[in-house]
Amino acid sequence: MSSPPLPSQPSPGAAPAWLVERLQQAGGWVPFRTYMDWALHDPQHGAYGSGRLQVGPRGDFATSPSLSSDFADLLLPQLLQWFDQQPQHQPLALVETGPGEGSLALQLSSGIAQSRPDLLERLELVLVEPNAGMAQRQQARLAEAPLPCRWLSFEQLAAQPVCGVMLAHEVLDALPVERISWDGTRWSQQGVALTSQGTLQLEGRQPLPGELLESLQQLGLERAGSQRRPGSSTELHLALAPWLQQAAAALRCGQLLVVDYAHEAWRYYAPARDQGTLMAYRQQQASGDPLQDPGHWDLTAHLCLESLERAAAATGWQGLGQRRQGEALLALGLAQRLHGLQSEPASALAELLTRREALLRLVDPHTLGDFRWIAFSRVGTPPGTEEPLFLQDPPLA
Ligand SMILES: C[S@@+](CC[C@H](N)C(=O)[O-])C[C@H]1O[C@@H](n2cnc3c(N)ncnc32)[C@H](O)[C@@H]1O
Repeated sequence: MSSPPLPSQPSPGAAPAWLVERLQQAGGWVPFRTYMDWALHDPQHGAYGSGRLQVGPRGDFATSPSLSSDFADLLLPQLLQWFDQQPQHQPLALVETGPGEGSLALQLSSGIAQSRPDLLERLELVLVEPNAGMAQRQQARLAEAPLPCRWLSFEQLAAQPVCGVMLAHEVLDALPVERISWDGTRWSQQGVALTSQGTLQLEGRQPLPGELLESLQQLGLERAGSQRRPGSSTELHLALAPWLQQAAAALRCGQLLVVDYAHEAWRYYAPARDQGTLMAYRQQQASGDPLQDPGHWDLTAHLCLESLERAAAATGWQGLGQRRQGEALLALGLAQRLHGLQSEPASALAELLTRREALLRLVDPHTLGDFRWIAFSRVGTPPGTEEPLFLQDPPLA
């Protein structure tokens, strides 16, 4: 009797079978943007699509709301300022896009129930989460939320658009980016190709598609300049405008707050930043290699502020201003909150120290404090009489 054949083991570094099949079907090469979309959002194999990625200090990477509820508590007055600018009795929605584990939505709805019970009868939570694997965990987490919750796609919301506030906290950095590489004389569109050994490699193609050329021209990058090192690469954010267009169709009136890592174009595309901003995260480790173990790592690229603002202006949004997270949270009372920890009972010392550390992390200029808060108002929304709270001077101690 012969023994059954051993299942063929992929060699180290080999692409997984599902990706080999996709790439072969596509002719052996796809633009980086397509690869990133598969690796993150494929319903079966993608890191978010499958629900494999876990957000939090014990998961794959931490975000501000996953550290403690202080972030939500500090953000809440900003949301209330915007809700209160809406006509009285107007039904309102707090729309969170890409809610991850559902922490922020849960913390904000609990904060609203405690501090503004008058809003409960006209406010609902709407969660926009395209990845079923993530939505399942959010539904479990928000089962006891004190606000009515609905999970809707942008398309479903467009059929019954809402008024209120939309949040995009660390969401736009998960939108697939195009990558381009500079060979010393011209740019190529970077893609992912299958090698004859069955591994993946980054490979440039010419000519550039028209939409990439247009984007380069808008950024003034078509002739990259002699300072740029041959072999350098960077990202272009072509998925922003379609996302913002869908978001605009979903929010009839109100504000959008984007919170993410972002650079001005001059910093983003500086010749010295010669490998762009793309990073991979898994189990609290960071890697610059986007091709390893596809579907098991978060892939993320910073935003370019001008690209975001241009895409927003073209899709029905008006800029309200932007600020670094550290400054935004100080304007919303972080220093007072930190000071207030001193009057908490010393019996909860361990918890107090953890909260103190989390508060300091939120404003640390080398990490979360360098995030940008970028606010937009849906065109046609009556302007508020006051500047957004997060852009004001910090309260006096
Ligand atoms: C980095 S996590 C952020 C989670 C959460 N906002 C936080 O800060 O803890 C990205 C989230 O955005 C979701 N996402 C990815 N692409 C999206 C899209 N096009 N629209 C809305 N959400 C998206 C992911 O499934 C995930 O829930």
